[in-house]
Amino acid sequence: MTTQINPLSVRLAVKSPEIRESLTRIVNGMNGFTVQGEQNAVRVDVLVLEIGSNPEAEFATISALLQEKVVGRLFLTSPKTTPDILLPALRAGAKEFFSQPINPEEVRNAFQKVRQETMLASENGNGQAKEGKIISILGAKGGVGTTTFAVNLATSIQALDPKRLVALIDLNRLVGEVPLFLDLETEANWEEIGKNFSRIDATYLQSAMVKHSSGVYVMPAPSTIDRETHLAPGFLFQLVKAMRRFFDYIVIDSGMVFDDNLFRIFRDSETVYLISILSLPCIINVRKLQESLRVSAGVSGAKLKIVANRFEKKGQISLGEANKIIGTEITTTIPNDYSLAMNAINNGKVFAEISGHSEIAKMYHTLAEDETGLAAHKSGGGFFKWFK
Ligand SMILES: Nc1ncnc2c1ncn2[C@@H]1O[C@H](COP(=O)(O)OP(=O)(O)O)[C@@H](O)[C@H]1O
Ligand SMILES: [Mg+2]
Repeated sequence: MTTQINPLSVRLAVKSPEIRESLTRIVNGMNGFTVQGEQNAVRVDVLVLEIGSNPEAEFATISALLQEKVVGRLFLTSPKTTPDILLPALRAGAKEFFSQPINPEEVRNAFQKVRQETMLASENGNGQAKEGKIISILGAKGGVGTTTFAVNLATSIQALDPKRLVALIDLNRLVGEVPLFLDLETEANWEEIGKNFSRIDATYLQSAMVKHSSGVYVMPAPSTIDRETHLAPGFLFQLVKAMRRFFDYIVIDSGMVFDDNLFRIFRDSETVYLISILSLPCIINVRKLQESLRVSAGVSGAKLKIVANRFEKKGQISLGEANKIIGTEITTTIPNDYSLAMNAINNGKVFAEISGHSEIAKMYHTLAEDETGLAAHKSGGGFFKWFK
């Protein structure tokens, strides 16, 4: 689905200026593609690579690119069309070979084929985004910062990976606060969606959700009890499961009702963040919840991440002591910053909007890097390093 909404990115790693120009003209003249400039990118959908000057090194680059999955489809072009160039090129995984001078018809056909294949794949639910990642956020107690964590993580993921679709679901029936945190006015909620569950698809979901300025699609919780509506048991779990087909990341503010739905959602989650503060009652709850998550939802090990929110280095309970009581490691600490948190909540903004350089905003950025695997921007790695 990502691909229906976003044009496919194209990179031209072509040395000869005339060939480069002519390819740019052809691709820019087609719908559904954007030719990238020199900016770094973690991944491109189509790479056109010119080979011939140093075939051996070029073939090594080609296999590495395809192996690291930073290129969706690879097209090659070369002034030479001798078998010693052509055969290894196609064997290395190139989908098309454009001879030079460029034949526009040939190029257009190849790109059209990519677009058709991508559309077909997304219609069949076989696109790149077929199994979105579920990231569940659970509080060890009320008021520890669960909603804060969910909205800031979701928006940070979207900021880091603008091409992907990010959903944020509020499961706190009656007491949902996600719209408030993001300054959104909406009547939408998952109970309404539940009434129309049979027609759920990408278009319906997006129209029934509310889009935040960050790009995140929000699904609020119902704020009233509607006695007339009877959602099927397991509905929430089914909804989240269905949303995986349409969204790349699904961040869930889990709420406090530990029912079968929630445990099934946790079981299917790639990551479960258990949010805590370093107070004794809270730490004891972490220990209990950790056990329930393991037994009832099979969540343990690296999948469970314990977060100490509002962390003070000189707090009464140290990280070491907390780890001892819990019996495992707290993986993440988020500093306490009362005035920033108040500013955020009172203005319906996320931390990065108020102060992108704050320690808290940086922490959420790092967490988003972990979830997306997109730390490559910083290290100059990713796709671009091959063409430095
Ligand atoms: N890192 C932080 N530093 C200071 N205050 C925070 C931090 N994170 C959250 N808060 C504040 O804690 C309070 C409770 O947060 P909230 O996200 O509503 O918790 P929950 O969803 O667990 O009830 C809010 O006032 C929020 O601004
Ligand atoms: Mg909350």
